This record gives sequence, C-alpha cells and structure tokens, in this order.
Amino acid sequence: MPTNEELFARARRVMPGGVSSPVRAFGAVGGTPRFAAKAKGAWITDAEGREYVDLVGSWGPMILGHAHPEVVAAIHRAVDASPSFGAPCLPELALAEKIVSMVEPVERVRFTSSGTEAVMTAVRLARGATGRDKIIKFAGCYHGHSDSLLAAAGSGVATLGLPDSPGVTGGTAADTLVLPYGRLDLVEEAFAAGGDLIAAVVTEAVPANMGVIVPPAGFNKGLREICDRYGAKLIVDEVLTGFRVGPTGYWGAAGRDEGWAPDLLTYGKIVGGGLPMSAVAGGAALMDLLAPAGPVYQAGTLSGNPAAAAAGLATLELASADVYSHLDAVSVQLRGLITDALSEAGVPHRINNWGNLFSVFFTGDQVTDYESAKKQDTAAFGRFFHTLLDEGVWLAPSSFEAWFVSDALGDRELEVIAAALPKAAHAAARG
Ligand SMILES: Cc1ncc(COP(=O)(O)O)c(C=O)c1O
Repeated sequence: MPTNEELFARARRVMPGGVSSPVRAFGAVGGTPRFAAKAKGAWITDAEGREYVDLVGSWGPMILGHAHPEVVAAIHRAVDASPSFGAPCLPELALAEKIVSMVEPVERVRFTSSGTEAVMTAVRLARGATGRDKIIKFAGCYHGHSDSLLAAAGSGVATLGLPDSPGVTGGTAADTLVLPYGRLDLVEEAFAAGGDLIAAVVTEAVPANMGVIVPPAGFNKGLREICDRYGAKLIVDEVLTGFRVGPTGYWGAAGRDEGWAPDLLTYGKIVGGGLPMSAVAGGAALMDLLAPAGPVYQAGTLSGNPAAAAAGLATLELASADVYSHLDAVSVQLRGLITDALSEAGVPHRINNWGNLFSVFFTGDQVTDYESAKKQDTAAFGRFFHTLLDEGVWLAPSSFEAWFVSDALGDRELEVIAAALPKAAHAAARG
C-alpha cells in the first residue's frame, strides 16, 4: 500500500502542487495531505487505511454524511440511464421544481457545475440587466475563482496569503470595488460616488471563507435597500449556506423574517449532493434574461447533469427538520468541547457561528472582518490541526475555513473528538 508521502510525491510530478484545488495541499499547515480512499457516514479513510472523523464533508456537500445509501442509490439509478445526455432531462427538472417550491423568491433556476460558475453567471446577468460594469464585493468573501471575484478573496487565497492573482487583467480588477465587510456606510459612500456605474453588490449570505463572520444586524437588508435606491442588483451567494444553515438556507432563516429578498441567489455544494452541480436562481423577470429566453449568454455541456441532479434532489429530500435539529445540536456540542479544551489549555480563541456553521479563530479579539480574521495565530492552528489529524480527526487544513458538521456525527464520533481535543489544545498552546 503506497504511503500518503509517496502518493503526494507522485502527484506533484503530474499536477501543479500535487492537487486539484490549492488548500488541499496543506500549504498553510505544513506536512503531507492525506489521500482519501473512501468515506462512509462521518468517517473518511485515507490511502494508508487510517480512519478519521470527518469535519470537512467535502467542504460542505456531505450534509447527510458520506455515501448515504439513498443518495448513492439515486446516483446509480441516474447513471444506469446514462451519466450524461446533453439534453433536458427529468432529474434536473425535478431538482429545479424542488428549489422553486422551497425558496419563495426563486421562480427560475439555471444549473451550472461549480459555485464559481454560478456566481460568475449571476454577475454577468446583473451586468446584462443593468447595462453597468462595476460590482462591489467584500474583502475576505470568496465567490469562486472567476476573474472579477478574485480580488481580496477568502478561502485558499486567504489561507495561502496570496496577493490578488496574476492573470486577472487590470480592466477586470478595476471593475471590482472591494469594501471591508459589514460597513454599510462605506457601501453608501461607494454608491454616492458612482452608483450609476454599479451593476451589483455580491455578498456571501454569511461570510464563511475568512472563517465565519456573523453579519451585523441589518447588514444584508441594508444592502438590499441601497441596491434598490440605485437600481443595482443584490446577489446573495449561498453556495456554502444554502440548504446547510436550514432547509431554505440563510434567506429562509433570516431574509424572509426581515422582509427582503435578493435579486439572485447562488447555490452549490449541497445542491449536488457531492457531485458537480450548482445553480443561479431568482425571480422570473431577471432570470429570463438568460439565453435562450433572453440575450445574456450562458451554457454548459454538462449543466443539469442527471446524476448530479439526482444526488442533489435525494439530498434535499432527505434533509428533514430532524436533520437540521441534529446539525444544530452537534454544532453546539462541538463548540462546547472545543472552547472547553482551548480555555483549559489557556489558548486565546474565538468561535464565531451562524446556526450550525462555525469556525475557530486563534485570537482573543473579536473577529468581524477580514482584517481581524488575519490577525489570528495561524501557527497555533497548525499545531492544533496536526494533533487532531494524528488523533483521527479530519479538519479543513486552514483556520480561514468553516467546520462542517454532518447528520452522521453521533456519540461515538463526538467521543473521539472529545478525547483528541485536550491534546490538540495543549499543542496549540506550546508556541
Ligand atoms: C460562498 C462560496 N461561493 C462560491 C464558491 C465557489 O464554489 P466552487 O468551489 O464550487 O467553485 C465557494 C466555495 O467554497 C463558496 O464557499
């Protein structure tokens, strides 16, 4: 059986950095990434046969745990009928109907294959609808790696401390205004200075790619009001929060009660149940500007893929109220265990959460935006991370990422985590 080291050496010879997505390479924490061999429920097994309790869940999609039998059966049925048609098909129709029935502001859904593609499409649609070029995004929010959204991005860009990416043209960068998160006054100022040029404000529903940041009260609603005043579109990116923080995502858990709706929502991760699937969604008038109903072009060979749609639909159907209560309860338990262990070891930390979504910052100060998130002790996180991994707990290899709970986490898994945490906390303390 090859070791993880041997596999990583092989991978580096044929893939840049040995991976298909940067954070997986363990750059921020050092050491060798574990090659995943299989996963079931809350457990993931690496290429050396070691088992870990998984708190990454493929970065969000595996809300039911890995390889849920009914999701796997739905995928098998779809694949038996053919992995791809390149034609309209029943699974995509059923998934679109399901989303429309669940999220009131959504009347139309366009399927894409990655979160990046979904947000990129939403931006194009907003530009096409308004005839304007500029967009506003917030520092530390991550909306995928399309050119116009890479500026001051969170996730891997934050993890690796990268400047804005080479390869993005000056013209594209100039059309993206980056503001600190949570400052409605600065959004007002930007619109006052050039509101007739701004097509859209793009925001994560709850920022979770610089660690989890709790939106200040009224922030998202305030964005809605400003966009309305200036005729700009509001794009709320729910690639990460959608169908995770509740059955109707962030919008259903907060926006509905506050009486506002975005123009466009973007979904990914859970919506494909672990297969490549994402979506742009919104009201009919705006969405019908997309080709072929309207002039804004967007397309995809594998868009609406039947196996991905079947996996997404099965996942959404299985994600009952009980599942969400369990996710919330497990998140509370985990946060309690983490803070107890870190406090006992004297490690300054903050845990931010929005519903079951949370992250741990290694700093004693409040974390409210990208600047404060960057002040944490990432070296302490690295020691914490590696000790947990050695003890059989699989975390995202970056303190700028959220922790993802799944319905498969139960008492046995929490015991493993509880046993590992004190050792990890003491490792974090040894600076
Ligand atoms: C909020 C948000 N938007 C967009 C994306 C990009 O999605 P993908 O990695 O599928 O391109 C991510 C990925 O983590 C995300 O968290």
